[in-house]
Amino acid sequence: MKRKEFLKLTGAGSVLFSSGIVSIFSTALGGCNKDNMMGGMSGIAAGGGITEGDFQQALPIPVTTGTNTALAAQPATAVLKGRTSYSVLGYQANSILGPSFRVNKGDIVNVNLTNNLSEASNIHWHGLHIPAAMDGHPANLVNAGSSFNYQFTIQQRAGLNWYHPHPDMLTAKQVYRGLAGLFIINDPEEAALNLPSGEFEIPLVIQDKRLADTSLTYNPTMMDIMSGFLGESILVNGKTSLYQNIKSQTYRLRILNGSNARIYNLAFSNNQSFTIIGNDGGLLRNPVSVNSILAGPGERLDILVDFSKANTGDQIFLISKVFGGGGTTQGTKQFKILKFIVTQKVNVPFIIPSTLSAIVSYIASQATLTRNFDISNMGMMGMHHTINNKSYSAARIDETVTANAVEIWKFDNSMGTEPHPMHVHGVDFQVIERTGGRNTIIASEGGWKDTVLVMPGETVKVIIPFENNKGKFVFHCHNLEHEDDGMMLQYQLI
Ligand code: C2O
Ligand code: CU
Ligand code: CU
Repeated sequence: MKRKEFLKLTGAGSVLFSSGIVSIFSTALGGCNKDNMMGGMSGIAAGGGITEGDFQQALPIPVTTGTNTALAAQPATAVLKGRTSYSVLGYQANSILGPSFRVNKGDIVNVNLTNNLSEASNIHWHGLHIPAAMDGHPANLVNAGSSFNYQFTIQQRAGLNWYHPHPDMLTAKQVYRGLAGLFIINDPEEAALNLPSGEFEIPLVIQDKRLADTSLTYNPTMMDIMSGFLGESILVNGKTSLYQNIKSQTYRLRILNGSNARIYNLAFSNNQSFTIIGNDGGLLRNPVSVNSILAGPGERLDILVDFSKANTGDQIFLISKVFGGGGTTQGTKQFKILKFIVTQKVNVPFIIPSTLSAIVSYIASQATLTRNFDISNMGMMGMHHTINNKSYSAARIDETVTANAVEIWKFDNSMGTEPHPMHVHGVDFQVIERTGGRNTIIASEGGWKDTVLVMPGETVKVIIPFENNKGKFVFHCHNLEHEDDGMMLQYQLI
């Protein structure tokens, strides 16, 4: 549902509303299409149940591309479950997800996007530090039937980034229906670590979809807009219920949570520990060993998993464990994501380097300004998701930032009832404080980030060294239902 229709239905400002209060739906949504509402909910069992399937099909790996690539956003057909074909959107024929870019620091990248959809689209290069005109700002659209040449130089360190459409109020639909892909940058610092590579470096794009509908229709109800358009089926690299054969050695898993709204608490079924070596902005300073880690929409994880203790025939699942703070729809049940089958016992020890990367720490006193962003959504401009009680408007610059400034941005969800993964375009930041809720900076939040999960009750401070790509950028909640509902503002770097 579009923001404007929603306003008409409910009457702006007339209903005080939060995701925790479900009972008002029956009255507030009197004018809503109830079939649509029930249809949307029927795909999800109570408690956020997941259909796991039998894990009988092999994990596909997206094809890799380089610095000169043509992409065509188009209606496509793809097999997502068993042998069932779905009508999806693709950047190439017969596929959801685009090719994975693999480029080097210093490369010039040229991507020609042709839009063969029946509506506007564009590409945002999530995590890249590139000129505003190339960033896929919602105002820079590629209209149906036309094309645009994205050209930029890679000036940043190695890391796992990604790309997806960003047209205002259409982002959630286009991403959900299949448009997204990985963008991997390599550099000499990373290469010197000799991390597992080739078949031992596996990209995993984790998403959830409603697979009862072979048209992969995106039709969020008001409930979905509140908490997110969740699917009952978990896809990895574009298919559901998969296995991957492995040898008993260390693997590097490069994980993107490319879901519209679902948060995963990633772990392994045998409860073995694994090592986080990187996140959104590339390598951490030092490796951190954990047994589970939370990943919100838009976040990336670079992990090493040591399978050397496993034996031939062992089956180990990547799972999502129960977690708190996800409201009534998320984190309430454990589910399986991907099955690893050990098919060969080998003896290939891998020693994880104790130092991964040189990272300069920013401290609060370096900031010249602190900006406060209320993301609790208690003020309720109508019934929408807002930042500082404002909804996105292309005509309004919300924050003006001086090039090369160092600032603290504070995302305040202390009064909120929903998780918000907050993302800022065009920069990486360091997380310097979390108060309330988990009350700590978690293992994956060292180094550089571009998306930070702010759970209900939490206030998170990040420090941002801005660069010199002057122009307009957006920042927003990466729950794509919230984003399209207006939880997005603009800053201008001058
Ligand atoms: Cu990945 Cu503005 O988003
Ligand atoms: Cu982005
Ligand atoms: Cu949000």
